[in-house]
Amino acid sequence: MRSCLTPVSSVAGDSVITVEGLSQNGITRAAGVAGAGCAQCGYCQSGQMLSAAALLMRTPNPTDTDIDAAMSGNLCRCGTYSRIRQAIHQAAAREARK
Ligand code: FES
Repeated sequence: MRSCLTPVSSVAGDSVITVEGLSQNGITRAAGVAGAGCAQCGYCQSGQMLSAAALLMRTPNPTDTDIDAAMSGNLCRCGTYSRIRQAIHQAAAREARK
């Protein structure tokens, strides 16, 4: 969920994980997105990481279609979409080997 579009009252009582909380909550899958050399300027990375983590929590082995659908709301001015998709596949493969 985008925090800029989500009133706090709508998540009252729910668990909320921010980008800072990804590692604190043991959610390391999204780190694969940042660690695969995806970012150019980095402006979009918070949203990309959170969307990737949410996708991998729901769908541990996503297809390209799954990834494109899950990441479609994240605009990257630098056009790193194919690298992000590749990094998500790599992160999913790493998780599967654990
Ligand atoms: S890396 Fe620059 S906007 Fe995505």
